[in-house]
Amino acid sequence: MFEAKGNDMRRILVTGAASGIGAAVAAALDSQGHAVVRADLRGSADVQQLDVGDPAQWSALVAANGALDGLVNCAGVRIRTALVELDLDEWDHVMRVNLTGTFLGVQALARTWIAAGTPGAVVNIGSTTSFSAVPGQPHYCASKAGVAMFTKAAALELAEHNIRINAVAPGPIVTPMLQTRLDEPGQREWLTSQVPLGRLGRTDDVAAAISFLLSDAASFITGVTLAVDGGWLTR
Ligand SMILES: NC(=O)c1ccc[n+]([C@@H]2O[C@H](COP(=O)([O-])OP(=O)(O)OC[C@H]3O[C@@H](n4cnc5c(N)ncnc54)[C@H](O)[C@@H]3O)[C@@H](O)[C@H]2O)c1
Repeated sequence: MFEAKGNDMRRILVTGAASGIGAAVAAALDSQGHAVVRADLRGSADVQQLDVGDPAQWSALVAANGALDGLVNCAGVRIRTALVELDLDEWDHVMRVNLTGTFLGVQALARTWIAAGTPGAVVNIGSTTSFSAVPGQPHYCASKAGVAMFTKAAALELAEHNIRINAVAPGPIVTPMLQTRLDEPGQREWLTSQVPLGRLGRTDDVAAAISFLLSDAASFITGVTLAVDGGWLTR
């Protein structure tokens, strides 16, 4: 079964690492002594360029970075558009980044782990909208529901290879993605009112849960989507 590695340093790939939750996760893993490979559509000196919807780019990134022990699929997009106004291009774009990108990342890393006979751990990013709909973003909700079920399906299939696949379901977390919504009249108040713990989430709240799911402390946990939502999903 899962080969514990103690608290050894690991090499972990984080997508969406240029912003928000991905940047915070990468910083948290850095501070814990792991070697972090950052990737994002927006590359920079510290961040390797990757479009998570492109399988060829995944292959190139994995080949260029050698052995990795973990993956955090933080890249994502959210666009708010009413169902009756939504066009197919926008639907496809949200699905491609949030759901197809998650699948391609898990597949790319799982292939390397199975070939090498080494264990691996992945954390995907769902959302409270994996389980509870909100109006105005049917494509986003569907993509995140897909992430939660894909996480289960991948966990079931890859368990025999000692590869764990989990996810987190953040509630409203203050990041550039949420900021556009917080700027709209009444949205900060409405979102906060939906959180039983009475505050919006911080990127560190999510980073802590992801660090746990990647760690050996979670070595008997696979296929779960852990809510990090201040209680949003209790309703
Ligand atoms: N902020 C929230 O309230 C919240 C809540 C639930 C879930 N989430 C999820 O958390 C994840 C991170 O969101 P965030 O709030 O940090 O957003 P963010 O916009 O701050 O960061 C998202 C990052 O993903 C990158 N990205 C977009 N498309 C990409 C692509 N095709 N390939 C590679 N990178 C791409 C962006 O460049 C950006 O750096 C997303 O999956 C989001 O859906 C966020």
